[in-house]
Amino acid sequence: MITIEALKNLYGGGEVIVPTITWNSDLSSVIRMGFKPVFVDINLKNLSMSISEILKKINSKTKAVFITHVLGFNALNQKLISELKKRKIVLIEDVCESHGAFFKNRKLGTYGLISNFSFYYAHHLSTIEGGMISTNNFKIYNHLLMLRSHGILREIKDVKLKNKTIKKYKNFLSEDFIFPIKGYNFRNTELGAVIGINQLKRLNKNNIIRNRNFQFFLKNLNNDKYIVNFDTKGMSNYALIIVFKKKYANLSFRKKFERVLKKNKVEFRRGTAGGGNQLRQPYLSEHLIKNHYKKFPNSEYVHNFGYYLGNFPKLTLTKIKKLCVLVNKI
Ligand SMILES: Cc1ncc(COP(=O)(O)O)c(C=O)c1O
Repeated sequence: MITIEALKNLYGGGEVIVPTITWNSDLSSVIRMGFKPVFVDINLKNLSMSISEILKKINSKTKAVFITHVLGFNALNQKLISELKKRKIVLIEDVCESHGAFFKNRKLGTYGLISNFSFYYAHHLSTIEGGMISTNNFKIYNHLLMLRSHGILREIKDVKLKNKTIKKYKNFLSEDFIFPIKGYNFRNTELGAVIGINQLKRLNKNNIIRNRNFQFFLKNLNNDKYIVNFDTKGMSNYALIIVFKKKYANLSFRKKFERVLKKNKVEFRRGTAGGGNQLRQPYLSEHLIKNHYKKFPNSEYVHNFGYYLGNFPKLTLTKIKKLCVLVNKI
């Protein structure tokens, strides 16, 4: 919400290129701020936005590309970064499902002008609820400090701007209670910070185990039935991903697959984290033309035949092997 509000307040309106596989808040914020969302299909190698499709949809009205790194994958490539830089288009990263993942030698979340991390308890690092925004831009940073704290001036670190504003209103406003912009209360708590800082110490180690688990899972999956050739370079795996191969992509196999998992008490989610192809979700219906979702075949494919199962540092290889034997038999 406040990432997109800062974008609007400081850079103006226009179009924002967004994925069809992402989370509700990424799209709701874009729409609420009056931007036009321009949807892009995913690619099946990393379940994130197809970069060739992004490049096709960029035009003179494009203000930003809001990319989601899905389930721990890196979604960036150099061509996209160079093109956005050349055309002065803002990159925003959603790293909520990919804490610690890399592109080249830098972590995700350091490429975007503004990047978002979620610390909801299902993620790599948790403060139960909460999250983080990262930016190297001092103006955006100060704007966000106000946005998250009721729009109040006293939060900002820009001393020059603070003093100038205090001076401007000194005859009729108390300096601790000047509200230059409309704001929210989106602050994390001290308690959350204590939990988060302690988890941070274990993040790298945990991510190595998560990646090891995922590689072991892919190695043991039946590659006749399930896709295993994902682009895992730089990944910080979030979950064990199962996408059916084309010849098994039908409703009867799907029914059988879900029946077996349920019977064996294996929890799963179909369609990736955010409820699959967002264009099928009711919250977007008034913004779309009828059957718009059909124009995004890869998102549709994952929506219908893509799953994830939990991955976590304490999950043993023995259990993963057992899981593979179970799904390979279906
Ligand atoms: C890709 C992505 N973005 C954003 C969010 C929202 O995060 P939060 O629940 O911290 O607002 C999620 C939630 O799981 C997510 O998966």
